Amino acid sequence: MELATDRLWFDGLRESDAAALFAYRSDPDVSRYQGWRPESLAEAKGFIRNQAGLAAPSPGQWFQRAIRRIDDGSLIGDLGLCLSDDRQAEFGITLAPSAQGQGFAREALGGLFQALFGRLDVHRVHASVDPRNLPSMALLKAVGMRQEAHFHESLRFRGEWVDDVIFALLAREWREAHAKGAGFAASR
Ligand SMILES: CC(C)(COP(=O)(O)OP(=O)(O)OC[C@H]1O[C@@H](n2cnc3c(N)ncnc32)[C@H](O)[C@@H]1OP(=O)(O)O)[C@@H](O)C(=O)NCCC(=O)NCCS
Repeated sequence: MELATDRLWFDGLRESDAAALFAYRSDPDVSRYQGWRPESLAEAKGFIRNQAGLAAPSPGQWFQRAIRRIDDGSLIGDLGLCLSDDRQAEFGITLAPSAQGQGFAREALGGLFQALFGRLDVHRVHASVDPRNLPSMALLKAVGMRQEAHFHESLRFRGEWVDDVIFALLAREWREAHAKGAGFAASR
């Protein structure tokens, strides 16, 4: 599954990405609310190897794509996608600190939604976020997702009970927003 937007393209992670992936994924500011935090470069390489054989998303399995800048080819983050059998999808997105605050996440999700609701014919997409993760909460609202649920202390995470907020978007809501010219970034 290859995707592109105006400034970004998405493809498989490569072994040569391991150092960059490890650097931003092990950064405490980036990994604070995330389930996976690599402890070593070897762990980052293992993560990439585990994804190596996957060319397309398949139900029940997390499918990780590299997010690269078109202008210089650099790896700036990654996007995880998990499809279910019933045309639903969950995603997670991570950007290196140097790439944050420039609209890249918003643009990446615009491209992802276009692929999911277009050629993959997904009915509903959702994301799960810790409400203390303000940039992520802001991002999900900015791309037109609805807050559907706020579960209180529903997850045990790194030794503490934490809240879980669910954001979702239906295919028809995405189409309606597009028809009204919501201006989400287009993929090409
Ligand atoms: C979540 C994450 C990808 C967002 O990246 P980002 O660089 O802020 O995203 P963008 O630049 O595309 O900004 C998206 C929107 O959020 C807003 N925003 C970003 N940070 C914000 C903050 N701290 N407070 C308020 N709004 C904020 C931006 O202004 C933008 O809104 P706009 O387009 O309407 O102006 C990034 O913070 C990250 O990688 N965090 C660590 C990993 C993580 O926790 N991922 C969440 C998993 S779902």
